[in-house]
Amino acid sequence: MNRQLAGATCASLLLALTLATPGLVRAAEIAGRVSDSDGTPIVGARITAERGDPARSTTVYSDEEGRFAVPNLAPGDWQVRVRRIGWRDGIRDTAAPNLELAIALERETDPTALAEQLPANRWFALFLEQIDDSAHREQFVRQCTYCHQQGNEATRVPREDWQWEKVLALMARMGGGLSSEVAAQVPSWFDAAYDPAHAIPRLTAGMGTSQFAPAPPAEVRRAVIDEWVLGGRASMQHDLMVHPSGHIYSVDMMQDELYRLDPDTGESKRFPIPADGLPLGGVFATSGSPLVPNANAHVGPHSLQVAPDGSVWVTLALGNRLGRFDPATEEWTLHAMSEGFYPHTLRLDSKGRIWFTIAGSNHVARFDPSSGQFETIRLPAENLQQAIALRLMPFVIWLSEYVDLDPVGAGEGAGAMPVPYGIDIAPDGGVWFSQLNAHRIGRIDPDTLEVEIVETPFTAPRRLRFDSGGRLWIPGFSSGVVSRFDPSTRTFESWEIPIEPRGTETPYALHVERSTDTVWICGTNSDTLIRFDPPSEEFFVYPLPTRVTYTREIDFDEQGRVWTSNSNTPTWQIERGQPRIIRLDPNPGATALAGTH
Ligand code: HEC
Repeated sequence: MNRQLAGATCASLLLALTLATPGLVRAAEIAGRVSDSDGTPIVGARITAERGDPARSTTVYSDEEGRFAVPNLAPGDWQVRVRRIGWRDGIRDTAAPNLELAIALERETDPTALAEQLPANRWFALFLEQIDDSAHREQFVRQCTYCHQQGNEATRVPREDWQWEKVLALMARMGGGLSSEVAAQVPSWFDAAYDPAHAIPRLTAGMGTSQFAPAPPAEVRRAVIDEWVLGGRASMQHDLMVHPSGHIYSVDMMQDELYRLDPDTGESKRFPIPADGLPLGGVFATSGSPLVPNANAHVGPHSLQVAPDGSVWVTLALGNRLGRFDPATEEWTLHAMSEGFYPHTLRLDSKGRIWFTIAGSNHVARFDPSSGQFETIRLPAENLQQAIALRLMPFVIWLSEYVDLDPVGAGEGAGAMPVPYGIDIAPDGGVWFSQLNAHRIGRIDPDTLEVEIVETPFTAPRRLRFDSGGRLWIPGFSSGVVSRFDPSTRTFESWEIPIEPRGTETPYALHVERSTDTVWICGTNSDTLIRFDPPSEEFFVYPLPTRVTYTREIDFDEQGRVWTSNSNTPTWQIERGQPRIIRLDPNPGATALAGTH
């Protein structure tokens, strides 16, 4: 059945139900048509119905006749926003159900306002053009886009050189260090790239033509996207996870909390994580702590996974601990690590053991919940100098309590370390990880703990995942590629991510939906989620509703819906200043037929 027909049938059914038995009606819809002021249909507009505090919203795209239907809304008052690059946002207050909403959008004729509508990556293209040296460009992308987008409005503000010095010192203190050669050129690159006299005409060339911002294809326009605001303006929902109970768990790294969202009711609950006697900033309190100014982080929860018994395991990056949350008792148990700094991403093996990367000190560790023991494996450094610096790290962190270390220098050091990052377990039990800054991946033998290293043919491998056939999928963060590594042949095959202009996307994470082996990739700098179908080698780009949507992790529910969170740090750069949990349903017809809403 085509979408329109399905919509029409559904609508008349709903209407009939409303008239006959209002008490039985659980969900309503808002449907209608989007057109230009001259009546021409607008294809691929994003229609968002939102309400509540904290806000929750549902977004759909308009079809080739400008029609849309926002499904599954609770009856009552909603605000509807219609958004399409090239037109001004249309806003209406209406009650659901409403099956005849007609919205005419006004064209955006002001080039400056039009340029403001574009995602960060479009602006960032102008910045990258300024950098001649490809190694400098790679360094900037890797070091300056891993907390927030580059090219969004907040990062385009013109500054004097002395102000840039302050900004760069602050970024370096938090971990975004640059070599002195690159840092010295940053102010002139920013000035040249984002000067409106140069940028606006470049970004708005072709405005008003159909080529300016093409609509997404019909396959993408079927999707339904839900968003839930979770946490306040000072919070940062770093990673999230779908629990077998159907709840979504998410960690607020800046406020030391675990959140649980019930997507059916929209209710959320916060579970504070004990500070375990640690000061603000945790074990990094004295060494230039990687904290945003409004943080209340003592343990800094980073990533989470569920164990077979339903408990939720969390890496506590600032506290050098692993946390276990029991959903039944709502209690925490914290395990202090024996070695290493900054526990990062974790996965469980088939024996229920927890493997996790330790980003700061170049380790991978294994924790066995049955014995309470940690086994820590030191990964190879790239050279002797690095190896020595890594071994001195505990001493430097101790020393920083007494001596004020230069933050810019410390940042430079951080950028030069290997940084173990993503981790996943192969079907044969092998533990694979990436070393982000070293541009390589590796395997740990789960029995002998022997480490093997493989160089990647692209830069900055970040969060990797296995597919059902035991092939490893890897996003190249500073190289804008997705790559498939076959462990049996030790070969890579890579695809350039088709976000235009090429090279402006920074894919932070990906995940493979294992029933179909579809790969979903974070469009971190372009406010998108990206789907890759390996058999046809086709990409589909889903524009997300909120400007400055910075995503870092992906998970799937039983219906194959895709979950992620907006965790741009700082949160205030996000449109309307709050983090959101996001669910994208690529195939809503199938989900509805399965009777799952
Ligand atoms: C570890 C996280 C992190 C990294 C890495 C990072 N930033 Fe930031 N950035 C932040 C935070 C947090 C803020 C907000 C600071 C504030 O509000 O005081 C920010 C703000 C900014 C701003 C806006 C400043 C303002 O005061 O309005 C600019 C510009 C910026 N960053 C540029 C950069 C550049 C250039 C790099 C690479 C050298 C970088 N960032 C790397 C976290 C980061």
